[in-house]
Amino acid sequence: MSKFTVLDHPLIQHKLTMIRDKNTGTKDFRSIANEIAELMVYEITRDLPMESVEIETPMGKSMQKVLAGKKLAVIPILRAGLGMVDGVLELIPAAKIGHIGMYRDEKTLQPHEYFVKLPADIDKRELFVVDPMLATGGSANMAIDALKKRGANNIRLVVLVASPQGVEAIQEEHPDVDIYAASLDTELTDNGYIFPGLGDAGDRLFGTK
Ligand code: URA
Repeated sequence: MSKFTVLDHPLIQHKLTMIRDKNTGTKDFRSIANEIAELMVYEITRDLPMESVEIETPMGKSMQKVLAGKKLAVIPILRAGLGMVDGVLELIPAAKIGHIGMYRDEKTLQPHEYFVKLPADIDKRELFVVDPMLATGGSANMAIDALKKRGANNIRLVVLVASPQGVEAIQEEHPDVDIYAASLDTELTDNGYIFPGLGDAGDRLFGTK
């Protein structure tokens, strides 16, 4: 079974409370969501492999550590996932970006794929799939299916808020995909929203209704 980790760093929790607040407007919501994504990626990348290289400091030759050439890519699930990309890129500016477009049928709550555009060497990259809300898990499961179908084999899912049902759905269908969240909330409402959640992440990010 894959790992599910809640990143309970105080800065992450404080910022999450700010964007949960319904009085937080679009501009602040957007910047704070990215700040949370940045802090989450800082925590998640602790285990990236390293190697030693010889460099020359002004004092002479020395062996020092660098990242072991692991190629990364960030994959936002459109459209709300876009709200986490800049935060990831603050720390990993050379990461490639792939996009997966999913929309959720408001009546059936079923996800539908409408757009996939990925880096060519997706099979050689470690992928961070980002989406603020892991609600039913339907969209994330379908996005991960779409990536695997195209050769991806190293995927982590990074969300701001998860529901218990969403985590279970991913762990059942993709036991190789580790999940990271800033919070595990208590409930999924009948119309597929997370409670207490933060409302519709896409609308709050983009100022739509
Ligand atoms: N998508 C959202 O934007 N919010 C939720 O609470 C659930 C799904």
